[in-house]
Amino acid sequence: MNAEEKKERFIVTSALLYVNNVPHLGNLVCVVSADVFARYLKSRGKDVISVLGTDEHGTTTEIKALEEGLSPKEITDKYVKIHKKIYDFFLCKPDCFGRTSSEENKRITIELFNRLDENGYISEDEVDEYYCPRCNRVLADRFVKGKCKICGYEGARGDQCENCGSLLETGQLENPRCAICNGDVEIIKSRHLFLELSLLEDELRELLNSKRDMWSENAITMTEGWLNKGLQKRCITRDLKWGIPVPKKGYENKVFYSWFDAPIGYIGITAECRKEWKEWWKSEETRLVQFMGKDNIPFHSILFPAILIGSSEGYVLVDTLSVNEYLNYYGGKFSKSANRGLFGDDIVELGIRADAWRYYLMINRPEKADTDFTWDDFADKLNNELVANLGNLINRIMVFLDRNYGGVLPHAELNEKDEAFFEEEKRLIENVENFFNRIQLKAALKEIMRISSLGNRYMQENSPWDESIPKERRDSSMNVLANLAKDLAILIEPFMPGISEDIFKQLNIQRLDWNSLMKPMLKEGHAVGKPIKLFSKISAQEIEELKRRFSEELHMEDKKCLELEVGLIKEAKEHPNADKLFVLKVDFGDEEIQLVAGLKKYYTKEELLGKKIIVVRNLKHAMLRGIESQGMLLAADDGNDVGLLSVDAEPGTLVSFEGEKKVRRCKELTIDELMENFSMEVINGEAFVNGKRMLADGKPVRAERIDNGRVR
Ligand code: MF3
Ligand code: ZN
Repeated sequence: MNAEEKKERFIVTSALLYVNNVPHLGNLVCVVSADVFARYLKSRGKDVISVLGTDEHGTTTEIKALEEGLSPKEITDKYVKIHKKIYDFFLCKPDCFGRTSSEENKRITIELFNRLDENGYISEDEVDEYYCPRCNRVLADRFVKGKCKICGYEGARGDQCENCGSLLETGQLENPRCAICNGDVEIIKSRHLFLELSLLEDELRELLNSKRDMWSENAITMTEGWLNKGLQKRCITRDLKWGIPVPKKGYENKVFYSWFDAPIGYIGITAECRKEWKEWWKSEETRLVQFMGKDNIPFHSILFPAILIGSSEGYVLVDTLSVNEYLNYYGGKFSKSANRGLFGDDIVELGIRADAWRYYLMINRPEKADTDFTWDDFADKLNNELVANLGNLINRIMVFLDRNYGGVLPHAELNEKDEAFFEEEKRLIENVENFFNRIQLKAALKEIMRISSLGNRYMQENSPWDESIPKERRDSSMNVLANLAKDLAILIEPFMPGISEDIFKQLNIQRLDWNSLMKPMLKEGHAVGKPIKLFSKISAQEIEELKRRFSEELHMEDKKCLELEVGLIKEAKEHPNADKLFVLKVDFGDEEIQLVAGLKKYYTKEELLGKKIIVVRNLKHAMLRGIESQGMLLAADDGNDVGLLSVDAEPGTLVSFEGEKKVRRCKELTIDELMENFSMEVINGEAFVNGKRMLADGKPVRAERIDNGRVR
């Protein structure tokens, strides 16, 4: 343990979740991760401020308010309480908790904007906007829906298409409609303010390059994609009422774009809670560690740093960016409206202790690919890992001390076997520290569980119940084990603070930190407390009840199935009415279909001929600029280039998903159902569906040209 490390200070943030909904289990991954890491740093004696809060502005809040018949302020007040209760239950104890709608955040946002303006990073432009004459409302972002002109997806929003991931400008929706009344919309002209990101490109690239070791892979890939495409100016004002007013003449009726003031919220929240906040945020000594889900990347790697750099106010920039992939529910997205999945408010009521949930989230932390929640997996992790390993060890130690020693610790006379045990424990603790330093929280937790296994083995081998072993030896083992229980209480504290506290209580000592690891703090003669049970197993019957209650079967039945087949491109022609599209003939051995694909920017006709590609076969046929597409081919996109998914297998081979036995023909899917139920991506060149490898004849499907990106 590096005792010589100098005292560092850290600001640790978790993404500020939108306040217009109840967070689901997947949303909690980054909140719990930040809490775990902040607790670890504190145990190591670092100076830490951890920041959590709610993201309150924007169209989603206004829409929710309309739905519930409340004002935006009332809606946020209502949901803040719900969020707070969930974070409390999960034992997430931020040093500062706050809201982006606070006065401090307003003040700092306005100040940063003024600095950016003085420094020449703000420009004005007249832009087209959607306007609904019936609602008499300018429709920003999510208030408009329509068909994405880039990929043809029907459910796109005004500012973003979930299907192809493109950020959309006004005019890039075909047949735009008002999300409130579903009526036709008009396009009007309005003046807006822009942040000139391109002027900061060099600084942003330098930031990325200097932090490569500190950012997770997915953050680096996506940020590189943005930078390589060339940064565009970003509109930072909106025609809404709910938000921070823009302090500039001519903009009195506008507010800031919520992604402008949301990340500033980290600062605003600290400022509300600490008088000395500037010493933290404006110091080169501070390391800013940020946790979030993958959809938040560009806002933290580009937009927020651009605001801070451009303001030249000396704010600290992100040091560590830890981005998790998604935790899904039985292979699909969580959806409150479809009542699918597990939400914070339900979890609070279930009576399963928070530590078990925290363990589950961290041991399944989606670090490299999406992972799935299932009730069986949850029960497995709880029963077969937590209870069987850690719970069992602590219980055996405490019960044995109580029964055979009246709870009073015996004398220890250490021998070589004990020393070997300490060596091994020390080695594993160093691993834990190394994993923590690289924010590999899942690996750190696994390593701690190995220390617990080591303890179980030691107890078995030293058998303190075996009277043929000399008494001094048995006493020594129990002394060693009691001190190991103390070490485990210290080690698990970041992950399972409740259980940690219970162990300290049973040992009848005050809470100790990392410094007390591997030290014989519990001495001969110390009286421990009574054993108490830390966890109980969750029975098969309880799991069945939970499945019923959260209607797993229903979702399993209704679970959408995806049919992918290997096809051979036999012909490629230009689309007669679209410059970006090709019309392809694709052969599956016994059948030939026609596909329309937007590949012209990336492939020539000649390159396409003879390629073996992957086609979604159960997609509803669509007319694309007057020509029917009888399926969709899959390609990967890293924000910079596009490459086809391909595999060397016979045309007509059905693609399977690793770990799923059945390969089947499936019912027709709409594009919405496809997007809702399947997330596809390429990791290190290989293609995945909902975290499972695509295989054709046992061979992995690979992307041409793209190492890491999304599939569409
Ligand atoms: N509200 C966003 C979400 O839930 C996260 C915002 S992070 C912030 O995805 F820092 F910018 F607030
Ligand atoms: Zn309308």
